[in-house]
Amino acid sequence: MNLSLKPPADPIKTLIDNLDPNIPQIEPPSATKLINSGTFGQTYLHIDVEQNKKYAVKVINLRKPNLNVKELMHNEIENYYNISSKCPKYFCQFIGYKYERHQLSIVMDYCGMDLFDYYVELRNSKLPAPVKNNKLKTIFTQIAEAMQCLHQHGYIHFDLKPENITVHNIYDKLSVKLIDAGSLTYLAENETVRIQGTVDYMAPELKHALLPKYLQTIKQNLPNVYNNMVPGIIANNELEKTDIYSYGVMVKKLFPPLFNKEFLQELIHPYPFRRPTVEQILERLRKGRGSNGSSSSSSHATRKNRNP
Ligand SMILES: Nc1ncnc2c1ncn2[C@@H]1O[C@H](COP(=O)(O)OP(=O)(O)OP(=O)(O)O)[C@@H](O)[C@H]1O
Ligand SMILES: [Mg+2]
Repeated sequence: MNLSLKPPADPIKTLIDNLDPNIPQIEPPSATKLINSGTFGQTYLHIDVEQNKKYAVKVINLRKPNLNVKELMHNEIENYYNISSKCPKYFCQFIGYKYERHQLSIVMDYCGMDLFDYYVELRNSKLPAPVKNNKLKTIFTQIAEAMQCLHQHGYIHFDLKPENITVHNIYDKLSVKLIDAGSLTYLAENETVRIQGTVDYMAPELKHALLPKYLQTIKQNLPNVYNNMVPGIIANNELEKTDIYSYGVMVKKLFPPLFNKEFLQELIHPYPFRRPTVEQILERLRKGRGSNGSSSSSSHATRKNRNP
């Protein structure tokens, strides 16, 4: 009788076998310093002195409860790899990954300080207000261009916020990139989308589908809006408008004088179809608002994590 027992298959190894084999599996460089912690893991900085290059290594513990490992692997690896090759100018570059002992390491380019930290530094700096405003205008223009690239390739970020945007100063020129593919969704492969994001930046139609409590508040306070909401269904062609809403919240928090009041209200309009398209935003930015308002804002005080 042959009693040889097969060891149980590691479900994560099976998930890796199903990923695109072209995605590089690499030995992650040793981490030197913690950059920041997010919902699912920590991101460390690695400096390669010989190559004069900096890397960011995101380390995710796959044993964490409530974790949809399949989705996480798909988003953090496959989606990240795909979008960073489709929008290299606007999404931080994915380098490779490694899975070992229930730990997933994602290696990326280090793309600079995130916009949350950059903004705090800029606000506290002694630079004259017009210089600060110019920098913020450049940043918001590049965020809009990044959003356009994503949408043109059929992706929705679903978690746009200052913590998921990096700002790099290259020879005094700002380069802005998106990071965090944790909620990134490719519409073509999804008949229904899983609603994710960070509540503070989340479009009302997403909150509505996600949070019954929010629905109650809308019903009581804004019956007109409530009556026009369709429970649980968001038209596919309006999903891009959820990123537009998050963009509007960021402008409102960080640099409201960028647009006039009416346009800002449209960006965060409760009805997705009332929000402008990314092309209309870019058009506005090209025309300019002639803003000389202050860039200060007090509402942006704490870092926000995605709801897992
Ligand atoms: N490539 C990168 N370059 C520079 N900083 C980075 C990079 N990737 C991540 N970071 C930093 O690490 C933080 C956490 O990374 P990330 O947003 O990917 O984690 P998360 O767990 O998905 O976060 P969230 O709470 O938004 O879900 C970012 O807010 C940013 O400060
Ligand atoms: Mg994040």
